[in-house]
Amino acid sequence: LSLVSMGSKQEKKPHVVCIPIPAQGHINPMLKLAKILHSKGFIVTFVNTEFNHQRLLKARGSAALDGLPSFRFETIPDGMPPPENPDATQNVYSICKSTQETCLEPFKRLITKLSDSFSPVTCIVSDLLMGFTLDAAKELGIPEFMFWTGGAGSLICYDQYPNLVEKGLMPLKDPTYVANGYLDTIVDCIPNMDGIRLKDIPPFIRTINPGDEFMVEFTNSQVKKAKTASGIIFNTFDEIEHNILRTLASTFPPCHGVGPLHLLEKKIDDKSLASIGSNLWKEEPECLEWLDSKPPSSVIYVNFGSIAVMTHQQLVEFCWGLANSNHSFLWIMRPGMVSGESTQLPSEFLKETSGRGMLVGWCPQEQVINHRSIGGFLTHCGWNSTIESISSGVPMICWPFFSDQLTNCWLSCRKWGVAMEIENDVKRDEVEKLVIELMSKEKGKEMRKNAVDWKNKANNACTFPYGSSVVNLEKLIHQMQVRKF
Ligand code: UDX
Repeated sequence: LSLVSMGSKQEKKPHVVCIPIPAQGHINPMLKLAKILHSKGFIVTFVNTEFNHQRLLKARGSAALDGLPSFRFETIPDGMPPPENPDATQNVYSICKSTQETCLEPFKRLITKLSDSFSPVTCIVSDLLMGFTLDAAKELGIPEFMFWTGGAGSLICYDQYPNLVEKGLMPLKDPTYVANGYLDTIVDCIPNMDGIRLKDIPPFIRTINPGDEFMVEFTNSQVKKAKTASGIIFNTFDEIEHNILRTLASTFPPCHGVGPLHLLEKKIDDKSLASIGSNLWKEEPECLEWLDSKPPSSVIYVNFGSIAVMTHQQLVEFCWGLANSNHSFLWIMRPGMVSGESTQLPSEFLKETSGRGMLVGWCPQEQVINHRSIGGFLTHCGWNSTIESISSGVPMICWPFFSDQLTNCWLSCRKWGVAMEIENDVKRDEVEKLVIELMSKEKGKEMRKNAVDWKNKANNACTFPYGSSVVNLEKLIHQMQVRKF
């Protein structure tokens, strides 16, 4: 351990390098974990890509990245050409491919530089999808923990991919299977996921479309590699995914559920890091004032995260579904959320919903979702949105788009009783019906009650000193301080 000057005192502190895959939904929880580790006495170096570093500067100003002597930001290149629209999410397949192919050497150089000129790196926490970092860690003799951004349920599905292929369940060789209801086939080989259907499994291996071969090979290899790490960290909590975590721990290194991280971060409340944030788009907090003017539980919050892209027709169906429900809504329309030439909203829709509909480009989601006026969340089921919604006691309507979102949707609807799903392609009548059911009918009430139960459990998990996530965090920290390769 190094001697680092921390104010007037010379202290020995462990130094952790945290590196997320460069996408919004991965940077957010990794930054929270990094802040928590800092409050527990770690020196932290947080690694962004150069592209995202510039975006953060633009969206949040330099205060968001100034850090402290003991919490610093560094950058490495992502290897991709600058995108045409600097505000758009980079292509996820390209990010995975490019980081895997280009980031190892810059990452190794960075670790060496930090150890030589700042403070010896004693531990690495890397996104599980950045498996190349394990090569650096092993070469440099530094223990590494993998952070899985999704829930434990999605990791257990990814872990079973080879099994599904072996059983001949996937990939689908004939696309007509999809039309024939084949995707409703129950899969009985995924532990603790009784009743899961083929359609609920992250869809990369469903059919082999161009691009899918890479993702199948990529996810399989990252999951396999993660088994050689010192531990796996999850933004989940024991009470909600206990059995899955236990099963995973039989084939993976020690698994630590230390979430919901945003709750734990709030409980720890490290004021020295309050100005550091990670939103890549500029937040529009005015929507909170608008929410203040609405009655309790009266507004449906609509947000499809940072990656999902819909067609213009799907946009129109959502517009009329919301308009016809007669409920108030706050809809976050990120630039680039709609594909194709026309991204215009129907003018009649704007006229009809004036006063009860608010549209903004990006919001402070954690504050929005906790606002007393929010009664439901129409979401794409990214894991962060799912766990943020559940731990705020807010029930959901799910429109999963890709990846783990399908599994998160299934868990939310079928296991946790907090959500309803929009089936297949979105139609206005179904949106209208579900919004009404969620906001004003018996089923919505029941789901809200379940969500409040989960909220209480999530809150208990993050309560000091004996909440399950607090205890798991202590175990993790102990392991991070003593573990050697
Ligand atoms: C991605 C993947 O798509 C998702 O499947 C995976 O589980 C995590 O990474 P993303 O699609 O961006 O995530 O969705 P989500 O997981 O919900 O993360 C979005 C994050 O951005 C959340 O932390 C949310 O609070 C934040 N956000 C989103 C805002 O702060 N404001 C917004 O307006 C929208």
